[in-house]
Amino acid sequence: MLNVGVVGASGYTGEILIELLLKHPRVRISGLFSQTYKTRAVGEVFPQFSNRLDTVFCAPLAKEIASVCDLVFLALPHTISMNYVPFLLSRGKRVVDLSGDYRFKDYRVYEKFYGVSHKDTSNIKKAVYGLPELYRFSIKRAKLVANPGCYPTAAILALAPLVACGIIREDTLVVDAKSGASGAGRKLVQEFSFCEVNGDFKAYKVNTHQHIPEINQVLSRLSEHTVDVTFVPHLLPVERGILETVYCFKKPVSGRKRGIPGTVRRLFANFYETEPFIRLKEEGSFPRLKDVRGTNFCDIGIKEEADRIIVISAIDNLVKGAAGQAVQNMNIMCGFPEKEGLL
Ligand SMILES: NC(=O)c1ccc[n+]([C@@H]2O[C@H](COP(=O)([O-])OP(=O)(O)OC[C@H]3O[C@@H](n4cnc5c(N)ncnc54)[C@H](OP(=O)(O)O)[C@@H]3O)[C@@H](O)[C@H]2O)c1
Repeated sequence: MLNVGVVGASGYTGEILIELLLKHPRVRISGLFSQTYKTRAVGEVFPQFSNRLDTVFCAPLAKEIASVCDLVFLALPHTISMNYVPFLLSRGKRVVDLSGDYRFKDYRVYEKFYGVSHKDTSNIKKAVYGLPELYRFSIKRAKLVANPGCYPTAAILALAPLVACGIIREDTLVVDAKSGASGAGRKLVQEFSFCEVNGDFKAYKVNTHQHIPEINQVLSRLSEHTVDVTFVPHLLPVERGILETVYCFKKPVSGRKRGIPGTVRRLFANFYETEPFIRLKEEGSFPRLKDVRGTNFCDIGIKEEADRIIVISAIDNLVKGAAGQAVQNMNIMCGFPEKEGLL
């Protein structure tokens, strides 16, 4: 059994991690760490775990974490994870970080979009971007996995086959994204409170969101050109789920436009043929949040026209967008069956 711990275990993604790890046949939860709830029984803070998990939250001290865990999930806000990673790696621990701290190859991009200095630039090169559909081979050998952001997971999975095969104009990519309120975490923020969100729908951080450079970094690497998406996130009046609609135009071919019906769907089917967590919708059918809620699936629907392609993807932001993908990464890092604990 692998001894695993969760730091930031009292947050939204921490709570889902506990749920997934409890059901995982190859791991033992050896430490749950929370500053706010230290010394309190987990089943008292989260009644759904009472009689299922006989443990207390511990103070998140790096030495204590390293002494009881082989692999650590950091479900912490950005800037906090990088306080833990150097010590944990120096003690030979494997780490899956859910924050944005290690997602960027160029720390200056992180500093620009997150508005803080990076305190651990030397470990950035060790980090592997944890999107299994693209980087499974590198994740297998990684000691540090930077789990992707929720919006980037849905956007990249919707665009990767198109960008990789070069059939679309990369200068016209538009990602129209919608997320439920849990995407902002459990902390109290007025903007995300029930009365503000309920019955409303609005755009925010219009084309300035910190997930834009993450999407661009991965797609640019895939296409070998600089990709610069237009990205507009919206706040949905629901608890969880992300739905993204991607609009793109095809490159002209020999003076004509491409247009053999079904071509793009076949391209996606081939690209994701062996992927356990990608579900391609039938032609004319499109994803909805209810179908992916509580699952690690990304559902994808495609509308192809003579000159344009519309791709719609949906995930649960807390599962494929965070904790589920983190467990998928752990499975790959540790040589466990990739679907273990996730279906
Ligand atoms: N929510 C999503 O949909 C989502 C999706 C993808 C990625 N993420 C990323 O995953 C990470 C966790 O997100 P979340 O939604 O779970 O956030 P959250 O609900 O706000 O939980 C974060 C937890 O971190 C702990 N924490 C906060 N400040 C700390 C500090 N200074 N030192 C130690 N611990 C601290 C808190 O627990 P204690 O005070 O009890 O220690 C808190 O419960 C974030 O980086 C987020 O960007 C979130």
